[in-house]
Amino acid sequence: MTLKSALDPDGAEYAERRAAMLAKLADLEAEHAKALAGGGEKYVARHHGRGKLLARERIELLLDPDAPFLELSPLAAWGSDFPVGASVITGIGVVEGVECMIVANDPTVRGGSSNPWTVRKSFRAADIALANRLPVINLVESGGADLPTQKEIFIPGGRMFRDLTRLSAAGIPTIALVFGNSTAGGAYIPGMCDHVVMVKERAKVFLGGPPLVRMATGEEADDEELGGAEMHARTSGLADHMAVDEADAMRIGRSIVRRLNHRKLGPAPGPVREPVLDPEELAGIVPADLKIPFDPREVIGRIVDASEFDEFKPLYGTSLVTGWARLHGYPIGVLANAQGVLFGDEAQKAAQFIQLANRADTPLLFLHNTTGYMVGKEYEQAGIIKHGALMINAVANSRVPHLTVVMGASYGAGNYGMCGRAYDPRFLFTWPSAKSAVMGPQQLAGVLSIVARQATEARGGVYDEAQDAAMREMVEAQIEAESLPYFLSGRLYDDGVIDPRDTRTVLGLCLSAVHGAPVRGADGYGVFRM
Ligand code: COA
Repeated sequence: MTLKSALDPDGAEYAERRAAMLAKLADLEAEHAKALAGGGEKYVARHHGRGKLLARERIELLLDPDAPFLELSPLAAWGSDFPVGASVITGIGVVEGVECMIVANDPTVRGGSSNPWTVRKSFRAADIALANRLPVINLVESGGADLPTQKEIFIPGGRMFRDLTRLSAAGIPTIALVFGNSTAGGAYIPGMCDHVVMVKERAKVFLGGPPLVRMATGEEADDEELGGAEMHARTSGLADHMAVDEADAMRIGRSIVRRLNHRKLGPAPGPVREPVLDPEELAGIVPADLKIPFDPREVIGRIVDASEFDEFKPLYGTSLVTGWARLHGYPIGVLANAQGVLFGDEAQKAAQFIQLANRADTPLLFLHNTTGYMVGKEYEQAGIIKHGALMINAVANSRVPHLTVVMGASYGAGNYGMCGRAYDPRFLFTWPSAKSAVMGPQQLAGVLSIVARQATEARGGVYDEAQDAAMREMVEAQIEAESLPYFLSGRLYDDGVIDPRDTRTVLGLCLSAVHGAPVRGADGYGVFRM
């Protein structure tokens, strides 16, 4: 049925919610601008002065004209000692009509060297490519490991090369376009790829550069002899193609993709129908204070095709909305929190719904706004743990693709049951209004305070109230800061923070990517505890 809205876009409540969301979005833009700035004016000018293109300019030239680019984790490394963006750009873009995973080093940020966050962001890109069968195109120009933090990258970083060859083994093509430095471990990026293009007089691909060779063996050799494009194309055979310049490398890269004969293995979408309800209004739905509940049907109606949503068990477990829809022509099952708390009925309803989606090979979309499973004597005695376990079992063992959007709260085991990061959704995006933690800041500070008070009293001491108040204030501020989207996105706990009004487009791109792989439901689950 077609969803109807109870939202009043002329009312004060809508205006207030929208104003709060727009303020958060302005903040988000400022954070994204940091990633866009790369290494800053000085390094950008130097790079351009050398006649080279920036990573984003390379991506633009590579992609089909006017094709969308779904950038992933632009806020990686936020809140760390490293620049926002983690010196690499990753995302899904269309090349010659084929959706590809693009991984581009940003040479303006510390020579494009890989720090611990760069490595994690690259791993995530490889995982997405593997799960969704997306060809990978590496745009390489990197100083290799960030040497001061080598202890955190050297050993785990080996996975980058392992991932490339495993993608190849799974029949997922890998391509390296080398624009500059690709030394030491970095040399295995072209080394492990199916197709390699190097730019003349620019690419430098060697295990050891001239100084290292001199130190190791006493041999005198220059960059070109050790790892130039000309040498690799004519002598070593590591380069399959030598490009005369960067634009030529992109042209060759595109022609390689054209010849891949890459096909999607999932079913094609049906006709697309735009929502009847206005997606612009998504900015005015989530209250600034997450303690106030909101109806997720107001969100669903603005992201699904024709605003049509057939609810499953609408009268049962009403704090979780479940139902069927289409999004950009793809069938989806939706699970969305309504009143915040998940009770036993909601958990059982979710477990049944997930099984039905797996029977029908239908991808699932999880929309979070939950404070977790209900606690208290009555609920424990009624078996809230085993009911939550049913839902978590179903989510963990479901095999259809999952997409997750954290709209508001995502606390406690509710984060797990609703397919948070640890449950491996194919993609997870966050709205600027989201908050995620083991519990709310006040509750967490309160629990710490009660535990400390009991421990002091058990020792026969007197609890210091002033110190308690200061401790609570400090802990609340810390947990609040750690619950916010930038902090979590910085740690790669999502694939990006998005404008709620872009949700339909982002999910449409994700669903298209997801259908690169076969879409099939699970045959079995763990033992359901009854
Ligand atoms: N680790 C940490 N910082 C690095 C780095 C690395 N691997 N490579 C470069 N940087 C830093 C530089 O110290 C410099 O910092 P500064 O501007 O604050 O002084 C900045 O990044 C830019 O480097 P610069 O050498 O000026 O840039 P370039 O474009 O002229 O040269 C490289 C880039 C990558 C060719 C060059 O920096 C280099 O050879 N780096 C070492 C490569 C290497 O041997 N890596 C080991 C791989 S395991």
